[in-house]
Formats: sequence, C-alpha cells, structure tokens
Amino acid sequence: ARARLVTIDGPSGTGKGTLAEQLAERLGWHCLDSGALYRVLGLAAQRQGLALTDAAAVAHLAGALPVHFRAGRVWLAEDDVTEAIRTEQAGQAASRVAAHPPVRAALLDWQRARARPPGLVADGRDMGTVVFPQAPLKIFLDASAEVRADRRYKQLKGKGMDANLPDLVMEIAERDARDRSRPVAPLRAAEDAILIDSSAMSIEEVLDRVLEEVRRVF
Ligand code: C5P
Repeated sequence: ARARLVTIDGPSGTGKGTLAEQLAERLGWHCLDSGALYRVLGLAAQRQGLALTDAAAVAHLAGALPVHFRAGRVWLAEDDVTEAIRTEQAGQAASRVAAHPPVRAALLDWQRARARPPGLVADGRDMGTVVFPQAPLKIFLDASAEVRADRRYKQLKGKGMDANLPDLVMEIAERDARDRSRPVAPLRAAEDAILIDSSAMSIEEVLDRVLEEVRRVF
C-alpha cells in the first residue's frame, strides 16, 4: 500500500500551515509543522545563550530538544511557547539555525517518526525533497511576495502581535532568500510536486484543490 503521506512545501506566508492543519483534520491524519520545530530550536538556542552561528552546539541541542506538540500547543520542556515562536524574530532565528547541515541532520529521525497510521500531512520547506522523498502526493504552495507579506501581517495582528507591513516585506524577502540559497535542503519544489499559486485563491479553494488530488492519489 502507498504510504499515506502528503507533503506541503513553500515559502513563508503562503498559507501552508493553515492548509496542512485543515487537510489533516479533514482526513483524520497527523500533522507535522516542521517550521515550528525549527522555531522552537531557534528559541531554545537563544535561551541557552548559544550563538546561532555555532552549528555544532545547535546541532547538539537539536539532538535532544525537549519539544512536544500537544492539543494545538507547542511546548519547550515545561514552557508553553506557542505564541513565543510565532514572532518574525523567532522566524529569523529559525531560518538561521535551519541553514546548518548538522542541525538539519539531527532533526531528520524525529520528523520521519511522525509518519504513523492513519497518515501524515507534513508542511515545511524540504518535506517533499529531503524528509519524505517517497511521499505519493507533494504540493508546492506559492504566492506573490505582496500577498504573502500581507497575509503574515494579518496573521500577526490577528494574534494581537506588533507588526509593520514594510518591515515584514523586507524580513520575509530576506528569510526566503536565505532559505532558497542555502546549500543544504534549499527551498525548492520537488520534481514530482504539484504547484499551486494561492495568490488569488481563498484557503477553502486551495483546500478543495488539494482534496481533489488526495482523492486521485490515495
Ligand atoms: O514555516 P515557518 O515560517 O514556520 O518556518 C520558519 C523557518 O524554519 C523557515 O524560514 C526555514 O528557514 C526553516 N524551515 C526549514 N525547513 C523546514 C521548515 C522550516 O528550514 N522544513
């Protein structure tokens, strides 16, 4: 039987996270938000006073990261970090630690172990290319830079966080450039991924489109 696995990759602000959550809920499958994992690692490294450039130290931390996803909340040991990891600053820290190959290697097994029955929807940057290359259905979700910054802005504001649109446009562009240009696991679509541009689509339209593919593949 085919592994029941759907990967959703793409740059930030395309709605990947929301899509992955809603798809997993519709299918009754598990969900892996790999970006949250890198965000927790960035936060943990900063709290321990590690330099984000210290690949060996951060990889060591990644190998025994006390992270837990429970009932929609994210925990770092005893701390609920659900909100703390969502700031754009935490996104930048995530992107810095994520650029180190030993750090990525240290998180591979943990991510692969999330693939359990009845199935998994995994979202991130390298789900279809590196972590789950055997996934029968791979989605690459994109959107224009303006739309992505605007969505991120509304998402942050909606959570009652500080946000400034011109700053976000710059920060997102910087983070994407780093994610796309890193030598290991750069952000790119897998050759067998289905490309969806969500710039002019609602989240419901994207979900319907992906559900069509799910029915076709599984
Ligand atoms: O998706 P999200 O914005 O939460 O990801 C935060 C950062 O974590 C990304 O900018 C990227 O650098 C890194 N990341 C990654 N690989 C993944 C998921 C996230 O490198 N699979």
